[in-house]
Amino acid sequence: MEALVFKNLSEADTERLGLALSERLFPGAFLALYGDLGAGKTAFTRAVAKGLGIRDVTSPTFTIVREHEGNGIKLYHFDAYRLADADELYRIGFEDYLAQNGIVAMEWCENVEDVLPEERLAIRILGSGNDLRTIEFKPHGARYDAILEGFPCSF
Ligand SMILES: Nc1ncnc2c1ncn2[C@@H]1O[C@H](COP(=O)(O)OP(=O)(O)OP(=O)(O)O)[C@@H](O)[C@H]1O
Ligand SMILES: [Mg+2]
Repeated sequence: MEALVFKNLSEADTERLGLALSERLFPGAFLALYGDLGAGKTAFTRAVAKGLGIRDVTSPTFTIVREHEGNGIKLYHFDAYRLADADELYRIGFEDYLAQNGIVAMEWCENVEDVLPEERLAIRILGSGNDLRTIEFKPHGARYDAILEGFPCSF
């Protein structure tokens, strides 16, 4: 399936988009977030988390990963900003996290492209500051195609 592109998103629109996505996720889903500093990767993750019943999402930049307990599912929120390569990710147990069947959201996937799961939803956020955002969802794998089939297109 082709990418879905959402344009001219206000902050509230970004939140609605993240909530809508959260309703369609499955255990083990991997969200690969891309975008510049301040694009809204954490804001988007916070919206997904809210949909999972999680209220306290902050940036995991200095810890690399934060674990949250949602309604019957865990969210593993990674930030690869400080990582030069994937070695450190493996040292903190990346593979164990992937095996937990929670939902993984990872910021700064640009830095660890080589080790991302083959099947994933790539989420690219364009814009920063007061700009309206463009957010692109690109599915990799049939389960992610399925998430986007019939996905609402305006927010
Ligand atoms: N349309 C929008 N969508 C998302 N965030 C927006 C929007 N408009 C303004 N913002 C603001 O942009 C900022 C995005 O910050 P956020 O921490 O989510 O970015 P980030 O991509 O995670 O950055 P970093 O690379 O530092 O982790 C927030 O202050 C948010 O309030
Ligand atoms: Mg962030």
